[in-house]
Amino acid sequence: MSLINENFLDLQESYLFSTIAKKVEKFTKENPDKKIIKLGIGDVTKPIVPACLEAMHKAVEEIGTKHGFKGYGPEQGYEFLRNVIVENDYQARGIDIDADEIFVSDGAKCDCGNIVDIFAQNNKVAITDPVYPVYLDTNVMSGRAGSFKDETQTYENIVYLPVTAKNDFKPELPKEKVDLIYLCFPNNPTGTVLDKEELKKWVDYAKENQAIILYDAAYEAFITQKDIPHSIYEIEGAKDVAIEFKSYSKTAGFTGVRCAYVVIPKNVNGYTKTGEKVSLNKLWKRRTSTKFNGVSYIVQKAAEATYSEEGKKQIKENINFYLRNAKIIKEGLEQAGFTVYGGVNSPYIWLKVPEGLTSWEFFDKLLEEVNIVGTPGSGFGPSGEGYFRLTAFGTKEDSIEAIERIKKGF
Ligand code: MLT
Repeated sequence: MSLINENFLDLQESYLFSTIAKKVEKFTKENPDKKIIKLGIGDVTKPIVPACLEAMHKAVEEIGTKHGFKGYGPEQGYEFLRNVIVENDYQARGIDIDADEIFVSDGAKCDCGNIVDIFAQNNKVAITDPVYPVYLDTNVMSGRAGSFKDETQTYENIVYLPVTAKNDFKPELPKEKVDLIYLCFPNNPTGTVLDKEELKKWVDYAKENQAIILYDAAYEAFITQKDIPHSIYEIEGAKDVAIEFKSYSKTAGFTGVRCAYVVIPKNVNGYTKTGEKVSLNKLWKRRTSTKFNGVSYIVQKAAEATYSEEGKKQIKENINFYLRNAKIIKEGLEQAGFTVYGGVNSPYIWLKVPEGLTSWEFFDKLLEEVNIVGTPGSGFGPSGEGYFRLTAFGTKEDSIEAIERIKKGF
């Protein structure tokens, strides 16, 4: 008899964005004449920039030649890409990271999900609430969450750190000792950021408690304010306690192409039951070489091109385009009387739903009455109740029209 991993039975019925997609599909079938504007899942709409396309084309030609053909690549990523990551994303910010501390992958979602493999089941996990569902669900799957409590909509073994307007979207340090801490800034879903002082509190906590920070910086390219850190390694001491996740998805439009990377500095250690230090870089390397054969050469060449002069310029234009959409949505919602957060250092706009409605009720109302898809805050966790997320990744026309419809409809 094949026994299943029963932890999967503790998951909520379906992944948030799949639930939304199903609801939208049903509505579309029943209302084929309605033009739906999708500002739900954070998927980009601008095509891959010319610099990356050109690099991909060249790589395609190259692998068709006798000398340019590539078989399996290095599991950790080609050196040409890891070197430009180090130069541009770290050294340029005064951060000292080595190429062998970078692991190129096929996406930050996979990395954030897979990282749980190298940690023991009995680690105490803290997540901000609301949160990108992948952090929670992958800990449920791997048996760290315990059972789900309907009354509180929380898992018994997870420490939830509320981030709401009440605490200005700054998570407070946990009252009980935790071992793994997920932080994402600029935050998905709230679009808010932490300054260096706030982030330092977490690094200090992790150092004092021999905890690890799993820092998701997938949205750092959207930071517009000068004093906001782009990497956790801008904080003193973080190289001893933090793993950082970066992605080309939202930055360079790679949601379909797939490329990201994880940084695990060699000083970051976990512990055995008997208290011996073990390098997490070494463990992740071992895991990667066993379970992964690397990202395709073509894709890594495209990622390399994001750091060329042309690539940087073209990508900046796209980011600015999405940030202008964010401004249109944010200001439009404010004019319509909504209280709005995020949207300044982030492509996500987080709004308070009108009094008397739950996040899902607001989702239904938006879909049915003005044909706009967003993401209900409660889908990201209990503290997301009463909030709603819209993304700036749509087209300019859609962003403008969405706001016009909301202004008329509410
Ligand atoms: C989101 O909408 O939160 C993201 O697109 C999901 C993801 O990056 O996987």
